[in-house]
Order: sequence, then C-alpha cells, then structure tokens
Amino acid sequence: MATPTLEKTGATSDASPYITVTFRIRRFNPEISDEAQWQDFQIEIDPKERVLDGLHKIKWDVDGSLTFRRSCAHGICGSDAMRINGKNRLACKTLIKDINPEKPITVEPIKGMTVLKDLVVDMEPFFQAYRDVMPFLITSGNEPTRERLQSAEDRERFDDTTKCILCAACTSSCPVFWNDGQYFGPAAIVNAHRFIFDSRDEAGEQRLEILNDKDGVWRCRTTFNCTDACPRGIEVTKAIAEVKRALITRRY
Ligand code: SF4
Ligand code: FES
Repeated sequence: MATPTLEKTGATSDASPYITVTFRIRRFNPEISDEAQWQDFQIEIDPKERVLDGLHKIKWDVDGSLTFRRSCAHGICGSDAMRINGKNRLACKTLIKDINPEKPITVEPIKGMTVLKDLVVDMEPFFQAYRDVMPFLITSGNEPTRERLQSAEDRERFDDTTKCILCAACTSSCPVFWNDGQYFGPAAIVNAHRFIFDSRDEAGEQRLEILNDKDGVWRCRTTFNCTDACPRGIEVTKAIAEVKRALITRRY
C-alpha cells in the first residue's frame, strides 16, 4: 500500500516537541481482500502522547477507514488491547516515547481470535468463557435486610482479581489459547477466582467443577505470558495456581 503522510501544522522548528513516527499497522478488510497486509503511516506526534493518540490522528486526518476499538481512553474499559511492537498492551496506556519510536511501531490485532476488520477481533468466544464461570455473587436463602459483612482479611483474598477490566490481553497472549480456542483462558479463570474466594459467595464448588473440565484450568502450562501481559498488574498465573490448588484440596 502507499505511505500516506500527515503534514505537521502549527508549531515550528526548534521548540516543537513533535517527531516523525511510522505506524506500521496490520490492515484487514474482508470486503476488499482475504489477506491482511501491513500499511505504513507517517505522522508527526509528541512522543509523550500515546499510541491511541497516534491511531486517532491517522483515523481522523489520514484514513478514516482505519478500524479499532476504544472507549474510555484512560485504561478502564479494556476495549483497546492490541499487539504493539509484538506485545499485548492497551493503546491508551502506551506512551510513544516508551516503545522506541525511532523504529516503525507495529500495531496488530490481539492473537487467537478471529479478526473482523483491521484491529477489531471477535470477542464473543472470550465473553462466552467469562459468562460460563458465572461472574456474579451467588447466594441462597432470603435476601438480607442489610449488607453482607466481610472481614478485611477475607476481602483481601480476592482483591487482586477484582481489578480485571476484561481487556483479553492475558487470554490472547496464552499459547494454549492460540493452539486451541476451546480453553477457558486466563481471564475467565481470574473472574472465577474473584468469586470462588469471596467468603460471601456460595457457588465456589460449581465454579470449580466448571473449571475442572478438559478445557479448564488444567490446560494452563504456567508460561506466565498472561501475568506479563496484564495492564492492571494482576498476578494472573498466581490466581490460576490458587484455583488449581482449590480444586485439589477443596479448600478455598
Ligand atoms: S486479567 Fe488483566 S489482562 Fe486479563 S482480561 Fe483482566 S485486566 Fe485484561
Ligand atoms: S480505551 Fe478504555 S482501556 Fe483503553
């Protein structure tokens, strides 16, 4: 493809914080071709801006057909996970200056999921696995008339896994998931962990049995890709290990 260039406007010469950066983006449009291909875009950008800002500049000023997901732009909604320079990251939390902008910055869709267009993948299998582990509080008996109490120590047991924003960076960095999309994947296990270890919940056994499946927690090979990929700093592999241990001991 040709190399469109966005001309710098406004700020001049020495004082300008802007540098020229090449975004090398994996493009795919099933209405045009069955094959994905790389396309280079050169833009002028302040290196303190984020990869998401660069994608916006390209979409708004150079090529409106560029397709990607984003919503909050502040690391909360989890919708803009993508492979940037070969690593899963949130585009809205990745500063240009931190990823060697002297070289082309590669941007690809996350792996292991069907690409619908450009950087947009089909997230439905990912969310189906999430729904399968019943990610909500399950209790029996009558509704209480006041809040369900919990000690600080009990709350601490699942604090880490409450931070998940369902971005899929972990699941789509997992080689087991790449090879076999049937695996529940780290994110579903993280969200099962969040309720299994909640002292107020009463469906831990059910969730453990769901993850005792051939496509469940035992497929994990402890490669730590998921922990490395998580933009929220969740110890994903540790959470998976705790679920495995709970399955063996039936204590949680
Ligand atoms: S565990 Fe981390 S990487 Fe995985 S979906 Fe949740 S926030 Fe994203
Ligand atoms: S756009 Fe919401 S997390 Fe990046």
